[in-house]
Amino acid sequence: RPRYTGLIAKYHDRLPVKDDSRLISLGEGNTPLIRLNNIPGELGKDVDIYVKYEGLNPTGSFKDRGMTMAVTKAVEEGSKAIICASTGNTSASAAAYAARAGIKAFVLIPDGKIAMGKLAQAIMHGAEVLQIRGNFDDGMRLVKEVAEHAPVTIVNSVNPYRLQGQKTAAFEIVEELERAPDYHCLPVGNAGNITAHWIGYCEYSGRGEGILTEACSLCHGHCRYASAIVDKRPVMVGYQASGSAPFLRGHMVDDPDTVATAIRIGHPQSWDYAWKVKEESGGWFDECTDGEILEAQRLLADREGVFCEPASATSLAGAMRDIRNGVIPEGSTVVCTLTGHGLKDPDVAIQQSSDALRTIDATLDDVRRAITDRL
Ligand code: F0G
Repeated sequence: RPRYTGLIAKYHDRLPVKDDSRLISLGEGNTPLIRLNNIPGELGKDVDIYVKYEGLNPTGSFKDRGMTMAVTKAVEEGSKAIICASTGNTSASAAAYAARAGIKAFVLIPDGKIAMGKLAQAIMHGAEVLQIRGNFDDGMRLVKEVAEHAPVTIVNSVNPYRLQGQKTAAFEIVEELERAPDYHCLPVGNAGNITAHWIGYCEYSGRGEGILTEACSLCHGHCRYASAIVDKRPVMVGYQASGSAPFLRGHMVDDPDTVATAIRIGHPQSWDYAWKVKEESGGWFDECTDGEILEAQRLLADREGVFCEPASATSLAGAMRDIRNGVIPEGSTVVCTLTGHGLKDPDVAIQQSSDALRTIDATLDDVRRAITDRL
């Protein structure tokens, strides 16, 4: 038996799972926290920036943390089918965990607006893929409506077990740093993940007020969150794509758009929670343009060897700007969550980089010249 068998096994006493539950796991969690070597120097600032590389989860995104919990609970409760609306990653994860559990997955995705890798995953894992002529927000509304009339369990982040699974990313960060970071930056779509991280940090700090009491009533006393491990919690910072930034506008957005299709969301499901996270942590929301997002994605791949999908780079794009401006002061330890793997969306990456490709003749001379040109 491998030593690491997934986050439910590791954090069993902090999660609302029965002792005899069949765990539906693919070994998710335990992702690397990578310290950036080159970017802080280029910013000319003395800051420690770490990226939590959630793209290394089994289906390539942080969704697996929530999905192992949601599907384990669905199976525990006798459900035979799960359903979600998705911009891509949730559908890939739901499809994989349903396959693992031997139950059915229905996924609603916006027609033509999801990255190829994610679509391939949902299809290969045998989900019923329904492409809707509408966006994520339409899909979410329909999923909630249909679940009232059909025996299907919703596995979007409105399913409270999703946030319980995702809070474990904060546990891992605190264990790795042996303290909470000063700032934690995330891309925000539905705002489930920023909420989940805050729940996780609160539990590890033994601070049971505010959002924690509400969200943790889900545990029905199963998790022993009151034990104080660190006393500090980070400032939580949420970045949105400018074309899909309801938290910046202060109201829902009806026609969200961005190259970062994963966060093309105008009606966030965890709206109230996210405002509480901002208040309780003393944090803020800000927006990044598509240009800033793609630039940060490329910089991270090119200077640090870490490839994330566009939506994920929003956290770093925003953090770099706030570090440059001094909004995040020197001397800080900053964690940016990279929510999904770069291979999820090869099309956008290649479109941006096609001028990096050179075609030459298959001769020694040409290869030698091509190399010496660039040395
Ligand atoms: N980053 C990526 C790569 C995502 O896929 C998502 C959400 C987010 C960030 C935002 O997280 O919604 O918790 O604020 N993707 C969902 C999906 C909507 O369907 O895959 P959030």
